[in-house]
Amino acid sequence: MRVFLETFGCQMNELDSELVRGRLASLGYRFVDDPDAAEIVLFNTCAVRDHAEQKVRSRVGIVGSQKRNGREVILGLLGCMAEREGLAILQKHPQVDLLCGPGELDRLPTLLENLRRTTAATRGERVALAGNRSRRTATLTAAEDELESLDLSRSFDPEGSSRPWSAYVRITRGCNKFCTYCVVPATRGAEVHRPPDAIVEECRRLVDRGVIEITLLGQTVNHYRYTHGTALTLDGREAPQVGPGLGAFRKAPAAGERVTTFAMLLARIHEEVPGLERLRFVTSYPRDLGDDVFDVLAACPRICRYLHMPVQSGSDRILKAMNRGYTVAEYLETVDRAIERLPDVSIAGDVIVGFPTETDEDFAATERLLRRVPFKNNFIFKYSPRPGTTAFDRLPDDVPDEVKRYRNNRLLALQAEVSRDVHAREVGRTLPVLFDRVGSIPLERRSDMTAAGSGGGVELRVAGRRTADDSMPRAEGEASRQWQALGRTAGDLIVAVDVEDEIAAEAMRGRILEVEVTAAEALLLRGRRPMPAIAPIG
Ligand code: 5AD
Ligand code: SF4
Repeated sequence: MRVFLETFGCQMNELDSELVRGRLASLGYRFVDDPDAAEIVLFNTCAVRDHAEQKVRSRVGIVGSQKRNGREVILGLLGCMAEREGLAILQKHPQVDLLCGPGELDRLPTLLENLRRTTAATRGERVALAGNRSRRTATLTAAEDELESLDLSRSFDPEGSSRPWSAYVRITRGCNKFCTYCVVPATRGAEVHRPPDAIVEECRRLVDRGVIEITLLGQTVNHYRYTHGTALTLDGREAPQVGPGLGAFRKAPAAGERVTTFAMLLARIHEEVPGLERLRFVTSYPRDLGDDVFDVLAACPRICRYLHMPVQSGSDRILKAMNRGYTVAEYLETVDRAIERLPDVSIAGDVIVGFPTETDEDFAATERLLRRVPFKNNFIFKYSPRPGTTAFDRLPDDVPDEVKRYRNNRLLALQAEVSRDVHAREVGRTLPVLFDRVGSIPLERRSDMTAAGSGGGVELRVAGRRTADDSMPRAEGEASRQWQALGRTAGDLIVAVDVEDEIAAEAMRGRILEVEVTAAEALLLRGRRPMPAIAPIG
């Protein structure tokens, strides 16, 4: 059976897709790049904003109309949209055959198998598993352990990955925060922490297969805390365990209690997986980044000094309405402490504009915050009301869309200025860069680009596939293009280096190489490979 799988949304979804792909491939399913060539089309969906859901709905519409015209294909929705909308999707979209929430992905092969059997005999049979909410009951630990099996059975096969040197490893699932705008606690369920031995072992096996960069994933990754000796699986392994609840994770362990904190986990991976060249983690919940974490970052050179620490708003009133659990002053305290302990730390964030009741003054406070913190970048989102969240139920979406758009654009422009300043500080330094992409720019465009000071216009290639210019005649194209190798610093700043041709750029992918930074723009740094030292003659 040929499967097409497309992923929407966050890094957690990318990892889920990789695990699903590995599991299905081991069962004999074959993955194809062309949805029209597949017998099974799966969309791993995101429900965080309506915009993400709309993209999926339009894809569903395309496959749906093909099905109405007689195409025989199984259409499945995985992930958060399947969980959020549940059976309502099946009513709205009769073309969808299968639903599988993010907490049920371990059961996807069985669902597909059932469906394959039933569709042959009884057309119109559909299957759905979207049950995170029921998981909050007594069965949680057992169910989570089944889900854990999906991570544990990871194929570790870099084949087919566009960046085989880089991998995600989940350390916590779910979220206990309940920010009032956010669907994640409903779709991914309560916070569950994986046992440290399983995490370290997964990192080690990935590095054995050639991975040099690992990003640890959790919705609030720094809330990680594992209490040993409480839950074992039937075969004697430590089992995943439900998070300790808000605030409790920084408590000193009780007498006789053995705990692995987030800082300890980072130090363990750094120590026990020496072949790992870069260790990252996202996303940090700002209030709870303790000095223990900063101390580990300061002491462990292969852990990237990079914090993705979303602030969401610069207004205390809005932060309270969002139930973020910190004030602007507390956020700034964390930022200042991070910079004091780690002078080269790189900070990124997320901001939501147009949250219900946000006034011009609230927005001005967010602008002030963006000027105050040296954010290397911020993802800026217009508030999107999500059914099932507290904000949706209790607060009117009262900021008009044109005001949201205006504020969004103002913040993008402001962030571009801040990013340019943050980037400018790197000029003249020599930094290690992990190269991962190949880009090219038509030579005539290059001069305009520098004038405009933008990093746009670069056509990128990932995994040996061109994204933009496949139709271009090769010989003519090569002559008139400037090839570039693109990568990221430990602080996650993008760096572009001009190289003589495509082959040279390709050869740099997957390697960490020193780069002298020569210029800074809002979106990227430009640099060159340092000249090799010339050996004295004689
Ligand atoms: N509307 C807009 N942005 C949202 N985010 C989460 N929920 C919403 C929403 N309802 C943003 C937050 C979060 C990021 C992953 O998505 O900024 O940090
Ligand atoms: Fe959503 Fe808040 Fe949890 Fe992040 S911390 S996943 S924004 S509820």
